[in-house]
Amino acid sequence: MEHTTNKHSKHQAFIAQADEALLKKRNAVDAAFRLHYHVMPTAGWMNDPNGMIHFNGDYHLFYQHDPYQAKQGPMHWGHVRSKDLVHWEHLPVALAPSEEYDKGGDGGQGCWSGSAVDDNGTLTLIYTGHVDGKTPEEVQCLATSKDGVIFDKYAANPVIGDSPDAKRFGFRDPKVWKRGGKWYMVVGYGKDGIGKAIVYTSCDLLKWEFAGAAAESDGSMGDMWECPDLFPIGDADKHVLLISPMNIAPVKNLYLSGTFDYESCRFDKQYAEQIDYGFDFYAPQSLLDDKGRRIMIAWMNIWGATMPEQAHGWLGAMTLPRELTLAADGSLRSNPVPELIALRGRHAAAADLTLDEGRFVEIPGVRGDSLELIAVFDMSSSDASEFGLRIRCSEDGSSYTEIRYAKSEQKLYMDRNLGGAGDGGVSAAPLQPAADGRVQLRLFIDRSSVELFANDGRIVITNRLYPDPANVGIKFFARGGSAVIETLDAWELSSIW
Ligand code: FRU
Repeated sequence: MEHTTNKHSKHQAFIAQADEALLKKRNAVDAAFRLHYHVMPTAGWMNDPNGMIHFNGDYHLFYQHDPYQAKQGPMHWGHVRSKDLVHWEHLPVALAPSEEYDKGGDGGQGCWSGSAVDDNGTLTLIYTGHVDGKTPEEVQCLATSKDGVIFDKYAANPVIGDSPDAKRFGFRDPKVWKRGGKWYMVVGYGKDGIGKAIVYTSCDLLKWEFAGAAAESDGSMGDMWECPDLFPIGDADKHVLLISPMNIAPVKNLYLSGTFDYESCRFDKQYAEQIDYGFDFYAPQSLLDDKGRRIMIAWMNIWGATMPEQAHGWLGAMTLPRELTLAADGSLRSNPVPELIALRGRHAAAADLTLDEGRFVEIPGVRGDSLELIAVFDMSSSDASEFGLRIRCSEDGSSYTEIRYAKSEQKLYMDRNLGGAGDGGVSAAPLQPAADGRVQLRLFIDRSSVELFANDGRIVITNRLYPDPANVGIKFFARGGSAVIETLDAWELSSIW
C-alpha cells in the first residue's frame, strides 16, 4: 500500500509534545501501587489494548493513552514492545489526535481503539477517529509504519467515512485480519438497543465494503458491542468472538464460540460465556504469533470504578498475556503464557497439608506482593464446605482479600470487601472440580492486582486490589470441616521494570 512518510508532519509534532509531557510527568508518579510485572503507562492514563501484533519477531502492544493526565482525555496510542511477552520496553507515542477526523469536540476525541496488521512488511494500524458532536462522530482510519515505531496517518483518511446507518449508537474499534488474500474487519456497533459486531471486507485496506452483521445481541447482551475481536481458533476452523458489551449489568465481557462463514460473513454461535469473572477486565484483544498461539490481553480496570492510582499520577494496567485454547464443548481456556516462568525466583512449597476448621495457616516463605502461587486441593479427602486463602493480609488480620471455593454451590469467590482502598465487591464464578476431583488455584499477585486461574484456565477472575503496601500475608483456611492441600508451590516474581 502506498503511504507518505513525513517525519516533520503535524502528527509528528503532536507526538513529540506528548513524549515530552510524559518525560516530565514520570518522575512525579507515586510508587505505592505500581505493578512489578504488568504493563502500565509511565504516567498518565491507559485503557484498552490496541494493535496487538507479532511483527518482525517482536510483540507490539499499543494502548489507549492520555499522556497529559491520569484521566480519560484526547486519546493517543501508547506503545510497548517485547521479545518474550514478559519484558516490555516503552516506545514513543504512536498516534496522537492531530486531524479534523480525530481531534476537537467538547468531550471525547482522539485516536480510539483499533488493531494492527502486517501488510507486506508495513505495520498498519486501523483505528477509530472519534470527535464528540461531529457528524459523523466515528470514522475508521489508517496509519502506517515501516520501522514499527514512527507512524504516519494515511493522507486520504478516513477509509470508512460513515456507518451503514446514521442513527447508530456506536461505530468503533475495528479489528482486521486476513483470510485467503482478503481483509476482513469486524467493528463494534449498536443500534436500537442492540449491540452488534458488523463486518467489512477489502482487497487493499483502503476501500471497504459492508458485509452485514456477523452477530448481534439477543436483547440480553448490551446495546453496543465495544472492541469486538473475531478469530479462528483450533484445528477445526472454529471461531471465537470476544465482545465488551455496554449497558449490561453486571457482566462486562463475553465470548461467543462457533463458526464463521467467510462467504456470508455470519457468525453462528454455539457457546457463550464470560471471558473473565473479575471486576477489572475489559476490552480484550488478541494476536496470533509465529508459534500459532492465540494470545489475549485486556485492560485490567473497568469504566466507572474508583481508581485509587489516579491520585498517584497514573491509571491503568494490562492483564498478563493469556493463551487461549478451545475445549471440545466450545468453552475457552485462558492460561498465562509459559514465558512468565522466567520471572520465578525464590521458591517455597508444601504438600499434604490438612487445614482444620477455623484455623488460619501461614506457610513459611509464602507471603508477598509479587508472587505466583499454585495450590491443588484434593476434594476426595476434604469435607469442608468452604476452603481457600486470604491474600494481602494485614498483620492484625483486619484487612485481606479472600478467595474461597464453596463446595455445594460449586462456586469460586473473590471477596475484596476488606481489601483496602477501591471499590470492594465479591466476584463469583461457577466452577466444578476437575475430572480427577481436584480444584487447582493458580494466582498471580502483584502490587495492586490479582489474577486467579482455576482448573487450568477454565475460570479466571481478575481484580485490582489497593491494600496498604505493608499487607503481604497469606493465610489458608477451611470452614465447615477440614480440607487438604495436596501440593502448594509459591515463587517470588521479579520485577520487569
Ligand atoms: C472501550 C472504549 C472503546 C473506545 C475506547 C476509547 O473501553 O470505550 O469503545 O474506542 O474505549 O478510549
